[in-house]
Amino acid sequence: MEENIVWHNHRISRAERAEIKNQKPCLIWFTGLSGSGKSTIANALDVALYQRGYHTFLLDGDNVRHGLNKDLGFSDDERVENIRRIGEVSKLFADAGLIVLSAFISPFTSDRRMVRNLFPAGEFIEVFMNTPLEACEERDPKGLYKKARAGEITHFTGIDAPYELPSHPEVTLDTTQYSVDQCVDKLVSYLRDRKLILECSGAG
Ligand code: ADX
Repeated sequence: MEENIVWHNHRISRAERAEIKNQKPCLIWFTGLSGSGKSTIANALDVALYQRGYHTFLLDGDNVRHGLNKDLGFSDDERVENIRRIGEVSKLFADAGLIVLSAFISPFTSDRRMVRNLFPAGEFIEVFMNTPLEACEERDPKGLYKKARAGEITHFTGIDAPYELPSHPEVTLDTTQYSVDQCVDKLVSYLRDRKLILECSGAG
């Protein structure tokens, strides 16, 4: 199939699409256990960037699994496919010139590497939410750890399914040590230092 499909180069490049937005396209990839703060920090960063006038898009495990990936469960193979699709979708949004924020457990190193390899060097920023399991379980915002401990959910990450720790994440955050605002400040500084965002226009 693939050999009969010819790639068309677009007349407007991803760099051009990004340039008029005063930013560089990139993917900020939040990985960590359920309840580790991925969605909270990704949302807060999304707001902070939006308020400063940047063009972003947020992809979140719980939401994407209601639509594009609603056919996928939590077996190893399905998690691999989940991340593969998210990686490709993230790449499309980045090609549109956007700063993409993706919040998925993404428990396997090989899948995170696969997504990283879809991006030019420096444009994939792995953010490891290094919140200890005990704290995630204590928070248990969706009551899922309780169900997993009771055996009502199987193959739950951190309980009876693995989470492979990132070995060289660009940023590590522990939400038991730092506030949401501190985590967001750290990420905004990272983006600024790497010139992924060029100058802050609006508020903040
Ligand atoms: S991933 O492992 O494939 O990356 P993803 O981030 O899309 O997971 O979805 C994780 C969310 O699905 C969790 O935050 C939780 O709300 C829900 N969930 C339901 N069942 C499971 C399970 N067995 N393991 C982990 N998360 C689960």
